[in-house]
Amino acid sequence: MHRRDFLRNTTLAGAAIGIQNQAFSYIPSENMKDKIRLGIIGVGARGYETLKLALYRKDVTVTSVCDIDPNHAARAEKAVVEAGHKKPALYTRGDYDYRRMLHSKELDAVLICTPWEWHTPMSVDAMRMGIAVGCEVAGAASVEECWQMVRTQESTGTPFMIMENVCYRRDVMAALNMVRQGLFGELVHLEGGYQHDLREVKFNDGKQYYGGGVEFGEKGYSEARWRTQHSVYRNGDLYPTHGIGPIGSFINNNRGNRFVSLTSMASKARGLHQYIMDHPQGGASHPNATIQFRLGDVVTTSIQTAMGETIVLSHDTSLPRPYSLGFRVQGVKGLWMDINKSVHIEGRSPAHKWEPADAYFKTYDHPLWRKYEKDAADAGHGGMDWFVLHAFVEALKNNEPMPLDVYDHASWAVITCLSEQSISQGGAVQSFPDFTDGRWINRKPVFALDDRY
Ligand SMILES: NC(=O)c1ccc[n+]([C@@H]2O[C@H](COP(=O)([O-])OP(=O)(O)OC[C@H]3O[C@@H](n4cnc5c(N)ncnc54)[C@H](O)[C@@H]3O)[C@@H](O)[C@H]2O)c1
Repeated sequence: MHRRDFLRNTTLAGAAIGIQNQAFSYIPSENMKDKIRLGIIGVGARGYETLKLALYRKDVTVTSVCDIDPNHAARAEKAVVEAGHKKPALYTRGDYDYRRMLHSKELDAVLICTPWEWHTPMSVDAMRMGIAVGCEVAGAASVEECWQMVRTQESTGTPFMIMENVCYRRDVMAALNMVRQGLFGELVHLEGGYQHDLREVKFNDGKQYYGGGVEFGEKGYSEARWRTQHSVYRNGDLYPTHGIGPIGSFINNNRGNRFVSLTSMASKARGLHQYIMDHPQGGASHPNATIQFRLGDVVTTSIQTAMGETIVLSHDTSLPRPYSLGFRVQGVKGLWMDINKSVHIEGRSPAHKWEPADAYFKTYDHPLWRKYEKDAADAGHGGMDWFVLHAFVEALKNNEPMPLDVYDHASWAVITCLSEQSISQGGAVQSFPDFTDGRWINRKPVFALDDRY
């Protein structure tokens, strides 16, 4: 029996007799020890960069590309061929053509780089087909969506990794090393967020694409086509993972600790309207000037953990500001703050004085970065993009647990819908579901424990 048929039959049988958590009907193909046959769904801005990284690897063959935009698919095909590989199969026949691709016998894994609302259906379908998933980051629209991901992964055993690249940022990994070596002492409080001015959108006048406009939706291009719509209709922390992912590693989330509850507040929404009013292509007579954006300019979420730490997350994408994820990692012996790139360690730093974080980060550079610095040198986002793909591929080849798994995904992504709920109830406290069903107490950390991946 083909491994996919076997998987589908055993999964259905398990569901019929009501067995939960009975994983491992997944069977990796033999070839995966050496080479992963990869498909990419969504080759827009992010997917195309990821594709180029995959093409550098000798242990990956890109066999399939799926995108509803034939131009994007053609651009990806060209990149594959120019890299000296066989033409990939293209799937461009609309929103559900990815399902045709999932039936391909030439596929071990998919990377999902589509708009947020597609991540769950695509991941769930791929896991059911026994095709490993590396899914781009997003917040969830509902708690149910997170459970679907968890239950599907558990019942199929198909590997799932949430591709949170910031977990692999060099300073973040050095800080993690410092946490693990006890420099900050027992952790007490952490901060992070997504603080990135996203007002400038790309748009399409029917002939070509421009940057820096005020159009979105139908007339928009790339993220402006879909992402800005979330700011029109939703009010919550829409993009929590770049901040909460690394924090999750610092506090051993789902592995001896977990997020228990949160409360969110949103400021007024002014930034996007102001941007449209002031823009040379906008102004008071522009149709978008009448839109009432629902997303508060700064959304602040406070999280309580089971082990007693507090976490403050910020989402700040509609006001003028330089980029910063604003990390703060603070324990009983000292702290690191990202914004002033400084560390203070009691008994080691001059009393009440900051020291440059750089010197510490050189000393505590993570073994992974020491080993792979050169390989990662040209990759996106300062090299961290190389590491996240490397981790996915290596874990697959070795048939080992994914370093950032479905429980990480669910407990990060759920922040979005819980924060929306909290804001709509005047900041009311919301409980996190325990996606591990109590196993967080005994699960052990696996993320970046050595210099392999
Ligand atoms: N980790 C990071 O640093 C990072 C950076 C940028 C984007 N992202 C994430 O990557 C994802 C994609 O973002 P992007 O900036 O590339 O957006 P994008 O709009 O540029 O690309 C999305 C692509 O998906 C295609 N698509 C849409 N629906 C599809 C469907 N049903 N089937 C197949 N293809 C479909 C679109 O045509 C487009 O080519 C998002 O989740 C985003 O949050 C992550």
